[in-house]
Amino acid sequence: MGQNIGEFAKKIRAGELVAFPTETVYGVGANAFDPIAVAKIFAIKGRPSDNPLIVHIPSIAKLDTVSSGVNNLARQVLEKFAPGPITVLVPKHQDLPTITTAGSPYVGVRIPNHPVALEFLQLADVPVAAPSANKSGKPSGTHHRHVQEAFGDELPNVIEGGQSAFGLESTVVFPRDNQIEILRQGSISLEELQQAFPEYHVYLSQENNSERVIAPGTKYKHYAPNGAITILPLNGSIVEIENEFIKHPTERIILLCSEEMKRKLSLVVPTILLGSEVNLITIAQNLYGALLACDRQNYSKILIQSFPEIGIGRTIMERIRRAADST
Ligand code: TXA
Ligand code: MG
Repeated sequence: MGQNIGEFAKKIRAGELVAFPTETVYGVGANAFDPIAVAKIFAIKGRPSDNPLIVHIPSIAKLDTVSSGVNNLARQVLEKFAPGPITVLVPKHQDLPTITTAGSPYVGVRIPNHPVALEFLQLADVPVAAPSANKSGKPSGTHHRHVQEAFGDELPNVIEGGQSAFGLESTVVFPRDNQIEILRQGSISLEELQQAFPEYHVYLSQENNSERVIAPGTKYKHYAPNGAITILPLNGSIVEIENEFIKHPTERIILLCSEEMKRKLSLVVPTILLGSEVNLITIAQNLYGALLACDRQNYSKILIQSFPEIGIGRTIMERIRRAADST
């Protein structure tokens, strides 16, 4: 790749957008303190203006540049999981522009665990506001090629880093009092957080609680390919899947499944392999790339396998349901 990260750092300081790899998904970044640069992110993504951006820093030492009044629990969560796929809500610094947090008094802070991202953030020497690198509503880019395909000439500055290791976004948490609320499920599972903080109440945000602080992004259509998705039941019948192909011989149908399910098929049908059920991380890694490939290959009907909802499997299924939700 031989890229000059210092040149990209200069560009972001000069108010340009720069896409960069992280261990979760790619981000489209701007100087978090430059409202005009941040506005370009909302424009290029077609992102609703009420959806706050995550601010990326290279180390906990920089926390005070974007936040004031970080509570102890928030700091402990960062010390435990950062650098890593976690975003922690803390009170925003008064100098952080309103547009960056979409008017929220809180800012989501993240320290990505990726050598190129960390080098970029260090050299940039400004906090970097960055959402996932995709047009609003579409699956997030997990390879620099996905980012280049999604934005083309609109976004010339793309730092190349190959495939993202996790493939699903960071877990967004709001630690306060004696609780850690998960506002958005992500690459760190509920169980991992519960194990790390057994003395605290760690829980998934309840949608029916009107008092709650929300992650606005979770109410919008997201991760959706153009084709209609059908989620197959866990341990469902292989014959029924094969019948879908037999019943619709002229339609462009594709099956997204594990290697294990593929081996059980007796018909040769178009498939995209998501990885092995033995290692759900491989499924997470490949999920968005597979959804993006469905669009590239114009599939109008997408059948997708279910996975057990424990650990990262819960996040995988949440993303698949969101992708399937056409509203
Ligand atoms: O892994 C990730 O988190 C990636 C990489 C690039 O860091 N970023 C990412 O950003 O997924 P985005 O914008 O696609 O999703 C951020 C989510 C949204 O649901 C947003 O509403 C929520 O986090 N969020 C961000 N700041 C927030 C805040 N201040 N209050 C509540 N929710 C917030
Ligand atoms: Mg996103």
